[in-house]
Amino acid sequence: MTMAYLNGALTPLSEARISPMDRGFLFGDGVYEVIPCYGGRMVALAYHLERLQQSLDGIALSVPDTEEDLIGLLEELVQQNGGGDMGIYLQITRGVVAQRQHAFSQNCEPTIFAYTFPITPPSDGSADTAVCYRAVTRQDQRWGRCHIKSTALLGNVLHMMEAVDEGAEEVLLFNASDELTEAAACNVFVVLDDVILTPELDHQKLPGVTRRQCLELLAAHTDWSVQVRSVSKQEVLAANEIWLSSSTKELAPVISVDGQPVGDGKPGPLWSAAQQLFQQHRFDTA
Ligand SMILES: Cc1ncc(COP(=O)(O)O)c(C=O)c1O
Repeated sequence: MTMAYLNGALTPLSEARISPMDRGFLFGDGVYEVIPCYGGRMVALAYHLERLQQSLDGIALSVPDTEEDLIGLLEELVQQNGGGDMGIYLQITRGVVAQRQHAFSQNCEPTIFAYTFPITPPSDGSADTAVCYRAVTRQDQRWGRCHIKSTALLGNVLHMMEAVDEGAEEVLLFNASDELTEAAACNVFVVLDDVILTPELDHQKLPGVTRRQCLELLAAHTDWSVQVRSVSKQEVLAANEIWLSSSTKELAPVISVDGQPVGDGKPGPLWSAAQQLFQQHRFDTA
């Protein structure tokens, strides 16, 4: 039985209830985090909480709970769910209102909800067992505040379905100037002639915790050439390797784009080495 946390109490997930007048339900007015946990240890918790605060600031929502309160509730939730391998979903919305109206009051009582879900530990970097992704390309049609980890994900959902409808598992998104932004649920790294490229952060991309960890790990443990700069569609289509990064996947290889193989259509050697670094150092930033 999965235990959930809802507004100060632990409860079986199947019994957790919120009001339909919660602004999270009415407007998608909330933010969230997904934090992986292996052997009962949360990965990069400090980075997730830092980004959560940025997202809360981004929607002008203040929460009475301190960072220590949030850590305490997450630790309790992990323990109540057996303390093994799991993903933790944490969502904070602007809470329940009497009337549905767009403008919000500062006097809200946020809804805090968290639950855990089963997770498979990410790849050890071996090409044989890698979970590979096929991607399609699209113009990014989401909103202009993608740096906020908002629960309002319909833009991402509809883009993901464009991939699914073409038999793929992810979509690489490009802005109006044909520069790579990110994927529907991941950040993106591109290997071009042994240089690792990833787009710089702005309001078109989520500041991924895994992206941040990856850049730190590459700087600390490799002498590879890494450039954080705009990446053109032409460069993506010419890439030797493409990696997706997200908390539950860490780094995952993209093996085809729009039906054409990336490199030789198999997980590349730099992906393998980079994912092995994650395997060894994923808790370094915790
Ligand atoms: C749109 C988007 N970009 C990037 C990411 C990767 O972020 P993180 O590495 O923090 O999981 C996610 C993860 O859910 C996402 O939804």
